[in-house]
Amino acid sequence: MANKQFDVVVIGGGPGGYVAAIRAAQLGLSTACIESESYADPKGEVRLGGTCLNVGCIPSKALLQSSELFEQASHSFVMHGISTSGVKMDVATMIKRKDNIVGQLTSGIKGLFKKNKVTLLPGHGKFVGHEDDRWLVDVNGEVVEATHVIVATGSTARHLPGIPVDNKVICDNVGALQFDSTPKRLGVIGAGVIGLELGSVWKRLGSEVTILEALPDFLGSADQAVAKEAWKVFTQKQGLNIQLGVKITKVETGKKGRDAQVSIEYEIGDETRVLQCDRLIVSVGRVPHTEGLGAENVGLEINPRGYIAVDHNCRTNLPNVWAVGDVVPGPMLAHKSMEEGVMVAECIAGQKGHVNLDAVPWVIYTHPEIAWVGKTEQQLKNEGVEYRIGQIPFAANGRALGQGDTTGFVKMIACAETDRILGVHVIGNNASELIAEAVVAMEFNASSEDIARICHAHPTLSEAMHEASLAVDKRALHF
Ligand code: FAD
Ligand code: NAI
Repeated sequence: MANKQFDVVVIGGGPGGYVAAIRAAQLGLSTACIESESYADPKGEVRLGGTCLNVGCIPSKALLQSSELFEQASHSFVMHGISTSGVKMDVATMIKRKDNIVGQLTSGIKGLFKKNKVTLLPGHGKFVGHEDDRWLVDVNGEVVEATHVIVATGSTARHLPGIPVDNKVICDNVGALQFDSTPKRLGVIGAGVIGLELGSVWKRLGSEVTILEALPDFLGSADQAVAKEAWKVFTQKQGLNIQLGVKITKVETGKKGRDAQVSIEYEIGDETRVLQCDRLIVSVGRVPHTEGLGAENVGLEINPRGYIAVDHNCRTNLPNVWAVGDVVPGPMLAHKSMEEGVMVAECIAGQKGHVNLDAVPWVIYTHPEIAWVGKTEQQLKNEGVEYRIGQIPFAANGRALGQGDTTGFVKMIACAETDRILGVHVIGNNASELIAEAVVAMEFNASSEDIARICHAHPTLSEAMHEASLAVDKRALHF
């Protein structure tokens, strides 16, 4: 029987892959997407959506929302005159709600595939050769042919030697989103995005949370002013115990059924300390996933750090083979992966595609949320760029006061010479939504004066962005 043939075969059905497949199909290309059975549904059927929908962005945000409501009901309602007593969290219901959201969204993508006529090929995709200008890709024993292949095989959690992840007691992101009860004592290795988000979830639900971070600085990639404010709120107000500059020396588990315990020995300065906890989350970054892809069968170039090497249009070293998302260099973010997926589909269809990595926003969904786009003040200093800053606290914003949540600020940094916005940093309620305005501004090379001239609805948190732009020129009206 002849092999199935497609214009485009996408390997991997995460945000990079499924979006690339939908866009390619929209552009009239016959398209298939291969997705392995990594995330099967309860019936054993393959699930699309990759890390993001199954064990990443979506489930973590669902748990953050539930735990935040619990926190508010327990501690914040009272200031509005609403009394609550005996507020309880049923962890099983919270996890079920999260699973339902995941189920809804992942099956939604199958619906989008049908609507756009993308063929789903369940199974493991592997390059096996190249014949007559067509790539041969094996899917669980069946070979399909493609003019173009888009590799979107994503990433997996980085593990540490001597710390065996079983996803029951010692967990990476997969197990950490599936706890069946609130651990009394939770240890976390890595004070990065996952450590802070999932540490916050379980802290709000009553765990004693200790986060062990190797680096001496907290949130080194954020603007220092934001990192300083976040440190104050997380450690002093919320009681997250974050230890910086640690070196883990030994991790031992003593399994006693549900009472299993983990003991972590670590060095901090000249001291050796031991942390006992009931569960441990290891969140020390992610590694690109190219295992079993058959890169060696076709000579696909992988760089020394394990990423597929690509140019600015996500072209690999092989003709008509492209790679997008976490498996290529750049921020490991779902929205960056999706943008690359669209760009590649459009390039294949003969259009011009572009992803501006300088305007990719970062968001940490803690409370307060942290969001930024562009350069930090410390980066600009290091680069010797002259700049001006406008910074407005939410304490000066009427909507924030009405909401009873005035933590944080908006900080806008503009070029001293041209006034072009170089970076915007927000820490506060809804920072994830507020940052969109800054992203638009940066994509359009806007100046702080451009934002200053735009009418912002009153009373909204977005007025803090407006005021920050005015503050760049030392003419804030409400601060
Ligand atoms: P993935 O989502 O990893 O998808 C790759 C897919 O390819 C997988 O489904 C895998 O099964 C499949 N695959 C791999 N190899 C093969 C093969 N050979 N054959 C067939 N299929 C294969 N990002 C954000 O932007 N915002 C967030 O809030 C956010 N939260 C996160 C929270 C957590 C806990 C984690 C772990 C990550 C989070 N991320 C977030 C990051 C985000 O999930 C990733 O950046 C994104 O999923 C990358 O998309 P991708 O398509 O490149 O890869
Ligand atoms: P991360 O890179 O954000 O943080 C890892 C942290 O672990 C770093 O601070 C690092 O210094 C520390 N670390 C590394 N080795 C260590 C060791 N041996 N001991 C102690 N600390 C150590 O990685 P994380 O949190 O695992 O998340 C992975 C990626 O997933 C993120 O970088 C991001 O791309 C994505 N993500 C995005 C989210 C979002 O957009 N809101 C949410 C969660 C994840």
